[in-house]
Amino acid sequence: MTQTKTAPKKLFIKTYGCQMNVYDSERMAEALGGQGYVETKTAADADMILLNTCHIREKAAEKIYSELGRYRDLKDDKPDLMIGVAGCVAQAEGAEIMRRQPLVDLVVGPQSYHRLPEMEAKARRGEKTLDTDFPEEDKFEQLKSRPKAARGPTAFLTVQEGCDKFCAFCVVPYTRGAEVSRPAARIIDEAKELVDRGVREITLLGQNVNAYHGAGPDGSDYTLAKLIWDLDKIDGLKRIRFTTSHPNDMTDDLIEAHGTCAKLMPYLHLPVQSGSDRILKRMNRSHTAESYLRLIERIRAARPDIVMSGDFIVGFPEETEADFQATLDLIEEVKYGYAYSFKYSTRPGTPAAERPQVDAAEGDARLQRIQGLITRHQREIQEAMVGRTVDVLFEKPGRQADQMVGKSDYLHAVHVTGGNVTQGEVRPVRIVSSGTNSLGGVVLD
Ligand code: 5AD
Ligand code: SF4
Repeated sequence: MTQTKTAPKKLFIKTYGCQMNVYDSERMAEALGGQGYVETKTAADADMILLNTCHIREKAAEKIYSELGRYRDLKDDKPDLMIGVAGCVAQAEGAEIMRRQPLVDLVVGPQSYHRLPEMEAKARRGEKTLDTDFPEEDKFEQLKSRPKAARGPTAFLTVQEGCDKFCAFCVVPYTRGAEVSRPAARIIDEAKELVDRGVREITLLGQNVNAYHGAGPDGSDYTLAKLIWDLDKIDGLKRIRFTTSHPNDMTDDLIEAHGTCAKLMPYLHLPVQSGSDRILKRMNRSHTAESYLRLIERIRAARPDIVMSGDFIVGFPEETEADFQATLDLIEEVKYGYAYSFKYSTRPGTPAAERPQVDAAEGDARLQRIQGLITRHQREIQEAMVGRTVDVLFEKPGRQADQMVGKSDYLHAVHVTGGNVTQGEVRPVRIVSSGTNSLGGVVLD
């Protein structure tokens, strides 16, 4: 037997977009692990390159084409190199990708990646495949149970996928399909496996995670709060987070859990997108700025120290200066610890794409203004941590000698020097300094 036949094949995955794609990439790598693939960090030594793509904003497809173009030389040098495109661009434009870029051997949508091993085998035989089905079978059920190897202290776990909300700007309902929740028992098993492998913090993922309504262990309809309480019972699991939520699905039991479940972290990503009721209506958001603010009041009543996070779109079609000002006012009232703002990006096939667009330069100017305000609040909230003692889950060594970095309960990055901390430990830390993107602290005994 020659060396090349026994050596493991190398897989390079490049992930774009949200945390759900990060989770999917991990599962795809595991699925291909069964075909003898191990992951590599460089495209140059790969036997297979997989781009896990995001379609949420413009230029996504163009980015993918230019990335693919860069692999031409690699494929010339190594004709056996397989190139695949996965994720939401694959879902939306798979056939076009196959037509436009002959380098691509396979295209797989987010709901079909359990079929990757089969597709890879076909590609090796010279047969190109495109699979963007929304299959009957559940991909998570089809994937073999996860490997047992030790891993880092934090993990994502997808519990829900898809969206039925149809916000007027968003492609997710088209690329990820209708809302589907995984059964609670499967999620709990997967969480236990992760904890056995060293995971201490799990972030539950879903496009609409708080709309989770999977079957409970006894077959009853579950809520996200019930699932969180079941996960709370897992020994060794220290922290639970979830993202992304919709204001209309913040149920009473979930708000209450923020006050009573010690493992549920005091951080909530709750996008509102705009502070103008006129725009919210045009966005098809089915809530008002006022109802959102009252909701935050209730959440803060349950958990006063909670750090809020959000998403905003500026320059949505027909957004006036007054509408934009209403968004700034809302941000001023909430004061987000973190917030992500985006210039509206036209997505073909979505209702807003057909409407009168805001001037691009005006959109850029508004983005600058909103980001200025968000950054100011972010900094203030971070700086207010100085002098406080917070729990930190340590994730990895820092750049300097004897330094460790981790995240506080509020998701701030914290670095400490000394203190004999090990990866995966949660320790109380007194915060002594605040830098641009992280806090410095001293571990308390
Ligand atoms: N243009 C700009 N931002 C968008 N988002 C979703 N669709 C668009 C779009 N067409 C933003 C929203 C969402 C986040 C994930 O991306 O703020 O919450
Ligand atoms: Fe997109 Fe709206 Fe669904 Fe979020 S709730 S995924 S923004 S359609």
